[in-house]
Amino acid sequence: MSSFLQAYKINEVRQENAANKTLVLDGALDAEPGQFVMAWLPGMQDKPFSLAQANPLSLTIAAVGPLSRAIHQLQPGDRLWVRGPLGRGFRLTGAPGDHLLLIGGGYGVAPLRYLAQTALARGCRVSAIIGARRQADLLLAADFESLGAAVWLTTEDGSAGIRGLVTDAIGPLLAAEWGRPAAVYTCGPTGMLRAVAARCAAEAIPVQVSWEAHMRCGIGLCGSCEVGDGWLTCLDGPVFDFDPEQTPPPPGGGPV
Ligand SMILES: Cc1cc2nc3c(=O)[nH]c(=O)nc-3n(C[C@H](O)[C@H](O)[C@H](O)COP(=O)(O)OP(=O)(O)OC[C@H]3O[C@@H](n4cnc5c(N)ncnc54)[C@H](O)[C@@H]3O)c2cc1C
Ligand code: FES
Repeated sequence: MSSFLQAYKINEVRQENAANKTLVLDGALDAEPGQFVMAWLPGMQDKPFSLAQANPLSLTIAAVGPLSRAIHQLQPGDRLWVRGPLGRGFRLTGAPGDHLLLIGGGYGVAPLRYLAQTALARGCRVSAIIGARRQADLLLAADFESLGAAVWLTTEDGSAGIRGLVTDAIGPLLAAEWGRPAAVYTCGPTGMLRAVAARCAAEAIPVQVSWEAHMRCGIGLCGSCEVGDGWLTCLDGPVFDFDPEQTPPPPGGGPV
């Protein structure tokens, strides 16, 4: 883990959809899929972003507030400062030939892109369910396809793929050619994570969940990312194994 800021130059900026851009930086980072970095610009508060790719380091960023909007203004040749990698990423449990299912919504698709790349390089078969409100909001689907993943799309308005939520694609996917996955990996909005974890528990399929919380230090010092019982998202997560026997339900806000 590096707590030092490192300046990268931006090599490429891709507009992925109306809200998201991918910045391809001029160097690599030795990081696991699911780990994150704190990105910083002078005069601004640094914020966490997942790796969409480690080599070259690439971040897919939704413009939602001051830092992310400022990052969206950057052009090739500009600098972005990064601290990391931080946190615990996904454990890749699949053996060559195993079928792994990745389920993402919103910018939660970004770390799954890097996970898909890593799993496919290890010889796993990868399916990805990518969900959004409407077709124009789908993110990185073409990337997953070009990597070699079997992509299932869901949209709430039915404008692409299966009409409904990502969980509505799980049943058809389980019945399809590759069948039951050895493991599920998921990242996205909290409600989606809860629904995916519940469905996987019902199917007795192990699931790793990437959680989100407001972060300030990113290294376990400030406590701002605690989600219950001293569980620090930045240090103990953001990824954890969902265990229906042991993981408590979230009355106090604990993960899932
Ligand atoms: C581990 C981790 C990985 C992340 N990876 C990515 C990524 O790959 N791409 C990406 O675009 N974003 C990612 N995020 C979210 C990103 O860090 C926030 O959107 C960040 O706050 C943007 O900073 P800002 O200054 O632009 O906006 P802010 O002013 O910080 O936030 C804008 C709005 O979003 C809300 N918000 C901010 N963070 C969260 C959160 N964690 N949960 C719910 N609401 C929030 C704020 O309350 C505010 O209303 C990640 C967050 C975490 C914890
Ligand atoms: S962000 Fe400071 S303890 Fe996690």
